[in-house]
Amino acid sequence: MKLAIYQIMHVGSMIMLTTFLFMAFANPAPETRRRTLMWTGIFSLLMLIGGFGMLAVLKLGFPVWILIKLVCWLILSGLAGMAYRRPASMFTWKAIAWAALLIAVATVYLKSNFE
Ligand code: HEM
Repeated sequence: MKLAIYQIMHVGSMIMLTTFLFMAFANPAPETRRRTLMWTGIFSLLMLIGGFGMLAVLKLGFPVWILIKLVCWLILSGLAGMAYRRPASMFTWKAIAWAALLIAVATVYLKSNFE
């Protein structure tokens, strides 16, 4: 039950963080900045709590693949701010977001190769 809560928290927050991030990419209007940064901050934190909760419940310790995911999480968490600060580079922010998401998800399924 505890594991399911952390899993839903982790994956659910990932979906919400991605949603708000791509909303910022589509329309980086200054009047939406505060609200978007608030929600991306909240979901990014919930996603991290879910991730560490799973690590604890599954008694996985701190494997190498978590470092890769932490880097992806850091990048993803900082991108909404970049979308508002430098909207001219939007294609770059989108490409980085796609890459971070893909690498983090791939890490879950390829993790046996990093242990
Ligand atoms: C961009 C960042 C991330 C994405 C897109 C992502 C995505 C995912 C997905 C799709 C799963 C599979 C869900 C499941 O099997 O229940 C998962 C599992 C997991 N994630 Fe993340 N995650 C990210 C960051 C993190 C971070 C920062 C942590 C650690 C603090 C973390 C820890 C975990 C753990 C422990 C699992 C369970 C692995 C297992 O079942 O053996 N993730 N993640």
